Amino acid sequence: MAYDLDRIVDRKGTGSVKWGSYRGGTHSGPITPIDTDLQGNDPVPMWVADMDFACPQPVLDALSERVHHGIFGYTSASDGYHAAVTDWFNKRHGWSVSKDWICTTPGVVPALHFAVKTWCRHGDKVLIQKPVYYPFFRSITNGGCGIVSSNLIEENGSYLMDFEDLERKASDPEVKLAILCSPHNPVGRVWTANELRQYGEICNRHGVIVIADEIHADLMMPGVTFQPYAKLGEEFANNAMVCTAPSKTFNLAGMHLSNMVISNPQLKEAFDAYMHETGVAGGLNPFALVATETAYRHGEDWLAQVLDYIHGNYLFLKQYLADNLAQLQTSELQGTYLAWIDFRELGLDQASLEKLTQLDAKVLFDEGHVFGAEGFGFERINLACPRSILELALDRLKIQIDQTVEPEFSPSDHKN
Ligand SMILES: Cc1ncc(COP(=O)(O)O)c(C=O)c1O
Repeated sequence: MAYDLDRIVDRKGTGSVKWGSYRGGTHSGPITPIDTDLQGNDPVPMWVADMDFACPQPVLDALSERVHHGIFGYTSASDGYHAAVTDWFNKRHGWSVSKDWICTTPGVVPALHFAVKTWCRHGDKVLIQKPVYYPFFRSITNGGCGIVSSNLIEENGSYLMDFEDLERKASDPEVKLAILCSPHNPVGRVWTANELRQYGEICNRHGVIVIADEIHADLMMPGVTFQPYAKLGEEFANNAMVCTAPSKTFNLAGMHLSNMVISNPQLKEAFDAYMHETGVAGGLNPFALVATETAYRHGEDWLAQVLDYIHGNYLFLKQYLADNLAQLQTSELQGTYLAWIDFRELGLDQASLEKLTQLDAKVLFDEGHVFGAEGFGFERINLACPRSILELALDRLKIQIDQTVEPEFSPSDHKN
């Protein structure tokens, strides 16, 4: 069926984090309630990585049917559920996964916390690559571990891994785990097989377990192919946990269901044991199971339309910036629906940039620096929304930038 993705679904009053609150320029501070109103002068939320599109119709139908059953007791994943998940990996990415390798968790972020607690000891170190999805930081420090970052290298608006630096950092005997963000949030890179192989060889050489967070794997821009980390070969899969979820792909983040793939039996046993000890393995949310199984079985048509629309939004953003806000540059979006915009040419310090975007323009981005100091001067914008919302946000930004930032001196301004 054809989905109307231009349609604005009013999310107010649904408890939506994106539409009812804002974290401001900090990743650890409280979320404060806000009002959002597209008609009035309230902020336009372009942050939090969920979509403003209604879910695939088959998912909505299956959920209604499940509601009408009327009993929602303790529930476990069925064979049908596991088959839908593994068939999806196979069909979408040519990645063959056994049901026995899957460990279902209430989200990827909780699974990162569990992984650090399972495979690290207090005082160990965990390797990441900033700027990166900021909840990685807390999953590491919460487990009593130290953060080591091999920062990405920015080159002409795109980002690369620094392999020499990675090798040096991974060789520290205290580094026990590495969290790979693939595709990378917030910079939008989809790592090539070559890059992943080099990364994995370094980690394997130094006995560092890899957690490959592939939550954005299904969100590829045209012409870009996703390389599953575990598909690089057995030596890579054997030393890894791969984080997958339907939440970004099908806009099901509030369902809190994700599937960790651990093919190494020793690693899996330890992870399962931690889940049992902490009571997390007790049962799963029946709605999340139904939504996930249905989305993986019948959501592909919806996803194709959504990806096409998001790519249209990305092209719209690029053209808008080129025509109206040439001081801002966006990194090439290879995957995810999160664009990374460079505001540094405006020459504003962080406080002035936040004032400009949040208070004056009333557009709520994720501030670049919450992904690490390397993100200073950048803002992350969520493109998974009706185009009219994106346009409204950009128009507001343009008005403020035109008013706030001194126009560049040009010879015709010279009065002498
Ligand atoms: C890289 C990455 N990992 C994990 C998550 C969140 O995962 P979950 O909601 O399953 O905890 C996000 C959400 O934006 C993300 O971008």
